[in-house]
Amino acid sequence: MVNHRGHHSKNLSTFRNRKSSFLSFTLYVIILFALSIFIFMLYSKDILDDEHNTPLLRVENSKHKQLLENQLWEAPSSHGLHPCVKPTSKYKAAPVLDRYMTVRCNGGLNQMRTGIADMVAVARIMNTTLVIPQLDKSSFWQDTSTFSDIFDEVHFIKSLQQDVRIVKELPKELASLPRARKHFTSWAGLSYYEEMMELWKDHQVIHVAKSDARLANNYLPLDIQRLRCRALYHALRFSPSIESLGKKLMERLRSRAKRYIALHLRYEKDMLSFTGCTYGLSDAESEELRVMREKTSHWKIKNINSTEQRISGLCPLTPMEVGIFLQALGFPRSTLIYIAAGEIYGGERRLLELTSRFPNIVFKEMLATQEELRTFSNHASQTAALDYIISVESDVFIPSHSGNMARAVEGHRRFLGHQKTITPDRKGLVELLDKLEAGLLEVSSFSSLVNQLHKNRFGAPRKRGAAPLGIKGRARSRLEESFYQNPYPECICKSETGMR
Ligand SMILES: *[C@@H]1O[C@H](CO)[C@@H](O)[C@H](O)[C@H]1NC(C)=O
Ligand SMILES: *[C@@H]1O[C@H](CO)[C@@H](O)[C@H](O)[C@H]1NC(C)=O
Repeated sequence: MVNHRGHHSKNLSTFRNRKSSFLSFTLYVIILFALSIFIFMLYSKDILDDEHNTPLLRVENSKHKQLLENQLWEAPSSHGLHPCVKPTSKYKAAPVLDRYMTVRCNGGLNQMRTGIADMVAVARIMNTTLVIPQLDKSSFWQDTSTFSDIFDEVHFIKSLQQDVRIVKELPKELASLPRARKHFTSWAGLSYYEEMMELWKDHQVIHVAKSDARLANNYLPLDIQRLRCRALYHALRFSPSIESLGKKLMERLRSRAKRYIALHLRYEKDMLSFTGCTYGLSDAESEELRVMREKTSHWKIKNINSTEQRISGLCPLTPMEVGIFLQALGFPRSTLIYIAAGEIYGGERRLLELTSRFPNIVFKEMLATQEELRTFSNHASQTAALDYIISVESDVFIPSHSGNMARAVEGHRRFLGHQKTITPDRKGLVELLDKLEAGLLEVSSFSSLVNQLHKNRFGAPRKRGAAPLGIKGRARSRLEESFYQNPYPECICKSETGMR
């Protein structure tokens, strides 16, 4: 600035010395001209700016749309809550005792994962060494994977070494000893397992025949609850090959769009047959599902009225219902949706009811090469692990049905900082959908009713729910919210104590 001014005044003094009126006039005109150009430019810039700020309806609308869209994706506020899984000061290191617990897990991947976390806690309560659990090979999923095929075994053993001693195998000299074979009661509390310690009087090895839901959701010591979280969220890491493929697939997803929904579309044959939900299916398909249910001996309920199931909110949403639901919530047609599921019943034809509304739908088969997926085929638990990883990391997770996967992913997302999970109110939604179909609702009022119905179902922090009042005993435990669906308050805290 200073230099510039000096240069300018030097020019002026030269000019004055010359005293040439002609030149003076010319310069005056030039300056005036330059000034007017300058003012004009300033002015026109204002005009341009103004044009951008003009509250044209179109512009406002698109801003409004953007705002609404951001709201759609935004995670609920976690109000300063964070994971807390550290043991309390009373917690002692794991004892090394010469007694062992062997476990046979049952169920699909997520039922087994939570079951394993429970068995770690049970081993701690019962003061025993845990042998790496055997996985279920006979469930619907027919997967022959062993523990180390799915999980990082070394990490599992090491990261829990302060809590429970874990060994790969039962020592040879104990393998032939008679074991106490136990079916532990469901949702058992501390006193039950303390009583079970009587078994050590006569046995050195206890065999647990079933791992699902063997431990109560509530009223357990804080250190036991936190141990369950450490086991599930820190120790039970997937094997390196699963983790690395999961990460690759996620990167490929992210390269397609900034944000994605993971949709757990539980519209698979076993689920439809088990729940007896045949809404929208052909007679032949309904019959096929009925026959499957008839033949599956451990599914106790055989006669199911599909209509009643559906209006009670007990059916998985169909691909079409999911599509209309997402539209009503306001997700644009271009939304990237990852389908976390196995084979969709009815295949392409049924999926079209969703893809016609949301064409940007992606399956793992579209993200991974055949080569990459080859080792995973015929291993349902391993592909389920990929779905789990991609679902936990998604911007929005939406399960179309309640179940072990839906609960586990929701809980993990709550634990990691209340990531957005939209849980459909299936009963209310089906009622609205039927009204819409019957022409009793306009599309716009349908949309606002759907949003109204779900305003508290976006995964915001809240403490784990108790069973409805007046229900006692076993039924009570069954109706409580599952510990792993919402580990708040034990493993999610406001204060700094116990932070991981
Ligand atoms: C567990 O084992 C340790 C080490 O032997 C012992 O001190 C403790 O009392 C045992 N706990 C129970 C509940 O028996
Ligand atoms: C199933 O339940 C619906 C609603 O309650 C009823 O209208 C229908 O008749 C039932 N169907 C059969 C086959 O019982």
